[in-house]
Amino acid sequence: MKDSPIKLSMTDTQARNYAASIPFDRRLYHQDIEGSIAHVRMLAKQEIITAGEAKAIITGLNSILKEIERGKLQFRIEFEDIHMNIEARLFEKIGDVAGKLHTARSRNDQMALDLRLFVKEEIGKTLDEIKALQAALVELAEANKDVIIPGYTHLQQAQPILLAHQLLAYFEMFQRDKGRFRDCLGRTDVMPLGSGALAGVPYPIDREFVAHELGLSKVSANSIDAVSDRDFIIEYEAAAAITMMHLSRLAEELILWSSSEFGFIKIGEAFTTGSSIMPQKKNPDVAELVRGKTGRVYGHLMSILTIMKSLPLAYNRDMQEDKEGLFDTVDTLQASLEVLAGIAKTINVNTDHIAQAMKTDYILATDLADYLVKKGLPFRKAHGVITQLSEYAVSKGKTFRELGRKEYRDFCPLFTGDVYDITLESSVAARNVIGGTSPQQVGKALRRAKRLIKG
Ligand code: ARG
Repeated sequence: MKDSPIKLSMTDTQARNYAASIPFDRRLYHQDIEGSIAHVRMLAKQEIITAGEAKAIITGLNSILKEIERGKLQFRIEFEDIHMNIEARLFEKIGDVAGKLHTARSRNDQMALDLRLFVKEEIGKTLDEIKALQAALVELAEANKDVIIPGYTHLQQAQPILLAHQLLAYFEMFQRDKGRFRDCLGRTDVMPLGSGALAGVPYPIDREFVAHELGLSKVSANSIDAVSDRDFIIEYEAAAAITMMHLSRLAEELILWSSSEFGFIKIGEAFTTGSSIMPQKKNPDVAELVRGKTGRVYGHLMSILTIMKSLPLAYNRDMQEDKEGLFDTVDTLQASLEVLAGIAKTINVNTDHIAQAMKTDYILATDLADYLVKKGLPFRKAHGVITQLSEYAVSKGKTFRELGRKEYRDFCPLFTGDVYDITLESSVAARNVIGGTSPQQVGKALRRAKRLIKG
């Protein structure tokens, strides 16, 4: 074994430990080696190094990859980051020829490449996980296709809706989230090698070849931008923050619905915990944590925006701070998507409790107003009549259904016997507009959702 010629100048141990990124950027080992192999193949093809040298380097890199995967490589803090650790190990394994790997390259374009490969892969996984959650919501909606729940505004009962309609509202949010990640993918899928430290490199390299080897669709257009751009990380984190906001709203809804006050749903035991002192409780901890973890994902977005905001071109060491927030965002988002899909699969809908919540039928007030409008009364007038009627019904402790014909007619002569045909079912069925809550529209929306998940 040869000793590595890699010597970084920082000799103060505290400063060296402070500056080292290997404790976290080791996560990029795969991308780093993949990028180096593509780079070396190109150097040989362009006769910048010999085929024999390239072979020795690639064999060495592949064996280092195996060592890392088996947990056999001891990363060393004195080598600072993943790039230097791998290169130092390469020296130990193949000797001086290892020194040719870094020809026509800088850690600045190397790190930009590693991060782009990483984000590209993670976007693929994120999209799959969003889809899996959407599928779980669609399944829950289908299994409870006919269930009518109170729809809320201001968290006050507003109008009846199909449960499936509300679940599909979340489907739509996640559909937009996927669009944001796909959009970000287009700007991540760019090959920065060849930018060197910042100015490009003085060798006859073939950048398109490297891009092709790595499955990246374009090469960066400006070397200074290529080493100082972290927009793709900001975009991933921004899309993640919005997705977490959606997950948090869904989590909040599930928490409310599973409370004893609502009692609309029961979350499976596997996703709830008992209280240590109150035996009657089943706490929706997992959903609460999805809501809670949204905060740190927002935090990472603020952090990277702040890191980048006053950096002069091109690379600055501040940018090393891009990684931990990114990794935590990826992990938090993906785990949250997974557990919420898991929860959705265990949900039992309690139709008795839901019916109980709408027993007073005041939720049909808008339908009563619409009834009068259809009989010729201007909507504003009808609204006034029903406001008075509601106040009267409440004061008498009666539901709409329990009011007599005469009581109705005292408020407006347009009321006839068919007023009793107004039910939760008729209310929902009447809203048969595109995007509305009628069973016909929701049936269509479910079919569309299933197509979109498959596509
Ligand atoms: N560890 C560094 C980072 O994460 C890699 C690039 C270092 N480049 C340099 N010139 N010091 O940003």
